[in-house]
Amino acid sequence: MKTTPVVLAAGQGTRMHSQLPKVLHPLLGRPLASYALDATRQASGEKPVAVIGHGADQVRQALGDSADFVIQQPQLGTGHAVQQAEAALRGRTDLVLVTAADMPLLTRQTLEQLIHAQQAHRGPLTLLAAISDDARGFGHLLRDTQGRVQGVIEEAHASPEQLAIRELNAGVYCFAAEWLWDALYRVPISPKGEYYLTDVVGIAYADGLSIQTVTVADATETIGINTRVHLAEAESALRQRVNRSWMLAGVTLVDPATTYIETGVTIGQDTTIWPNTSLRGATVIGKNSTIGPNAILQDTQVGDGCRVLASVVEKAILEDRVEVGPFAHLRKGAHLAQGVHMGNFGEVKNSYLGPGTKMGHFSYVGDATIAENVNIGAGTITCNFDGVNKNHTDIEAGVFIGSDTMLVAPVKVGEGARTGAGAVVTRDVPPHTLAVGMPARAIRKLGKRD
Ligand code: UD1
Ligand code: CA
Repeated sequence: MKTTPVVLAAGQGTRMHSQLPKVLHPLLGRPLASYALDATRQASGEKPVAVIGHGADQVRQALGDSADFVIQQPQLGTGHAVQQAEAALRGRTDLVLVTAADMPLLTRQTLEQLIHAQQAHRGPLTLLAAISDDARGFGHLLRDTQGRVQGVIEEAHASPEQLAIRELNAGVYCFAAEWLWDALYRVPISPKGEYYLTDVVGIAYADGLSIQTVTVADATETIGINTRVHLAEAESALRQRVNRSWMLAGVTLVDPATTYIETGVTIGQDTTIWPNTSLRGATVIGKNSTIGPNAILQDTQVGDGCRVLASVVEKAILEDRVEVGPFAHLRKGAHLAQGVHMGNFGEVKNSYLGPGTKMGHFSYVGDATIAENVNIGAGTITCNFDGVNKNHTDIEAGVFIGSDTMLVAPVKVGEGARTGAGAVVTRDVPPHTLAVGMPARAIRKLGKRD
């Protein structure tokens, strides 16, 4: 049986008070809507249809090919929203799984449960119910004297007795498709001028059809986002979920409450993450590494046995046993080979540092290729920018760069050479040569004892 998801994402999200459409607000580094799109696709095995309207161009662009899009214009309610998918789906799917883009915590497992329940059901729909004392604006489920679901009453239209009902409509349904398309034409306009999807429940009941419910085990899954307060609550719940799964997989989080791990990150066994650390984007961390406290890693690869302390690392590669920080900044294209030591107040951009190279204090290395076992003295700077072009610096193996050396690129320092403290290197230094001064001149060949 084929099940196609329809994800509702056309609403304005007025209560966010934002220029950005609600469904694009970031949650743990990804647009809000991407969670519902992923979970429904995984549960059904089919690409979801997203109903968009408010900020449609922006939403479509941000969500790319994670969904097929249909436009709802104007937005006349949830029933009207689902109806916009009819032309794309009628005759092409057995079941329709409907959920809202602003419910990011709903899991694939819960959606699978709902689909399986509907597959086994003879009636027109299975509805996800949540039991809670705090209705948070959800519709309440009405049952008849025999306990059969007879309808959903929205908070705005509910009597005090109805408001006391703790069984709520999560707004997630699995429908028999052909029945749904027909029923949507029978939905009346509400006093507010909207077509409520929830009215199809009453229509099914009036036709004598049975409505099945699945109750979500963990009501936090149904947290919907209407305000930025809800956004923070959802972020916190999602963060706890992600952190917990890393701890169960063998990663030590010293303080999960201040550890921010986005969903695209992977971490190896026996790695320890200290407090106030953000791991973002497609960051990959190996085994037995120590990250933080106070580290920010974005789209970065870290090998095994590394240590990154109080540093900002963006789009960089750290091979095994690399030490960074405190207070280092690695930028795009920084590649530190195994055993590199980069101490405090250093910056590396678009550069390769070979195995065992050391850069202990106050240095800037940009657009450079540095071979193995090079010692970069305190205060060394690659002067890579001449005002027009970025120029390259090449440093061969075993070089010793004296403190406060300025390497005026393009320039090359040959294997085993040394520069004196404060040298301003404007010309290539031949291998095994000592260069000093401003501009640095080669003064003598290095002997064995140098
Ligand atoms: C809806 C349900 C309510 C349920 C709640 C759960 C209805 C009438 N009520 O209420 O029973 O408890 O969800 O969250 O369905 N949307 C559109 N186009 C529209 C209107 C809404 O795409 O014309 C989208 C919104 O962007 C949102 C979703 O549908 O993602 C839900 O709409 P919303 O207005 O938030 O419905 P609720 O009042 O929350
Ligand atoms: Ca809502």
